[in-house]
Amino acid sequence: MVVHVALTGATGFLGLRLLHRLLGTHRSLTVLAHAGSGNALHRITRFFELTGAPEAFVAGLPDRLRVVETDLARPRLGLSERAFQRLADDIGAIWHSAGSINLEGDLPELRRTNVEGARHVLELAAAGRRRPTVHHVSTAFVAGSRREGVAYEDELDVTSGFENAYERSKYEAELLVRAWSREHGRPVLVLRPSILVTDLPPHPELPSHPLLVIERILRDARRAVGSGSPADRPRVRTVGHPHGRLNLLQVEHAAEVMVRLAGRTPSGGVDTYHIVHDRDVPVPTVVTLLERLIPLSIDLVATKPEAPSALEALLDFYPGMTAYLAHRRRFDDTRVRSLLGPSAASAPVDLDYLWSGLAPPGRALAGSQDAPTTAFSSA
Ligand SMILES: NC(=O)c1ccc[n+]([C@@H]2O[C@H](COP(=O)([O-])OP(=O)(O)OC[C@H]3O[C@@H](n4cnc5c(N)ncnc54)[C@H](OP(=O)(O)O)[C@@H]3O)[C@@H](O)[C@H]2O)c1
Repeated sequence: MVVHVALTGATGFLGLRLLHRLLGTHRSLTVLAHAGSGNALHRITRFFELTGAPEAFVAGLPDRLRVVETDLARPRLGLSERAFQRLADDIGAIWHSAGSINLEGDLPELRRTNVEGARHVLELAAAGRRRPTVHHVSTAFVAGSRREGVAYEDELDVTSGFENAYERSKYEAELLVRAWSREHGRPVLVLRPSILVTDLPPHPELPSHPLLVIERILRDARRAVGSGSPADRPRVRTVGHPHGRLNLLQVEHAAEVMVRLAGRTPSGGVDTYHIVHDRDVPVPTVVTLLERLIPLSIDLVATKPEAPSALEALLDFYPGMTAYLAHRRRFDDTRVRSLLGPSAASAPVDLDYLWSGLAPPGRALAGSQDAPTTAFSSA
């Protein structure tokens, strides 16, 4: 039986890679695009062109993709009652990857997109006569501000609080998903990726690399305090742990693992998977990367400086982000590994790889021979 798949967030950093993977096994797909956010088919087409897809593949996209304009934040995704029901009845599976990853966003704004958005997608799944399977993209960071120890796939608890409103909104969305599955007796796949990265160089027509937001904040702060010429490297003390580590995973690999997991027989309830790298990146590597991107010298300190400089005070406005430099926890992914074995492991994410995906044009790393992993070279 051919299952018709609908995907939200298909124009996003992860969604484009999910779309690519899903097009590998499905002749056609429905893209639930963000209404009023540009021509989704054009953006998708540009992604495939820029990542070296064969011409025939690109030419076939208009026939293979049906675009429905939606707004996650609105009831019935902003569709009329009839259009909503027709869409619900058409689909056999739904992938929900749309959301706001704005780490600086406030809770009401993030709730509208991430929590109400999940609610509306679940309503769509509940309304469909084919009882579509739900694949919900969450984040490993629902683990919140527990900075040490191990976060397990079945855990979902609020006791340690959250580093920022984004984490809380994704946690609340998972609560909704769990309640929905119980209430309707329906299976849901919850996919929790860590921080997704690529080595594909930045391009104005591609979704922004998730780490670029940190680069922008540091750069803006440096500018705001008028920190001299680019040759100066003001020193910034920020709370962090010298043995801290962060989990960063190639976005292309994450999409591949997610689609493979979706091919497994579901348990019938909520199956949650950590989509993570088996080796964490040491925080000092992330610091070196940031120092390469912005003329700053970053010192990790154990506690907030008592007399912060103007620059340090400004950066302290973004505690929800810099907090990650103090993280030492590990994400357990036993469930993924027991299903997929060693094939779930990914190539290393090192400084060269990260630099390739973030470096401004003309600043490629001397001596780096590797070609970026494009969507097509990794397929
Ligand atoms: N990126 C990461 O490192 C990371 C890590 C862990 C988990 N995740 C999760 O992965 C998912 C995808 O993230 P991403 O990196 O692909 O984010 P992204 O690049 O910002 O893409 C977000 C997608 O959601 C769509 N969208 C946003 N608001 C919408 C609305 N109101 N109605 C309909 N569509 C809307 C966007 O459409 P437009 O572009 O047209 O606005 C875009 O397609 C999210 O659920 C995120 O929480 C991401």
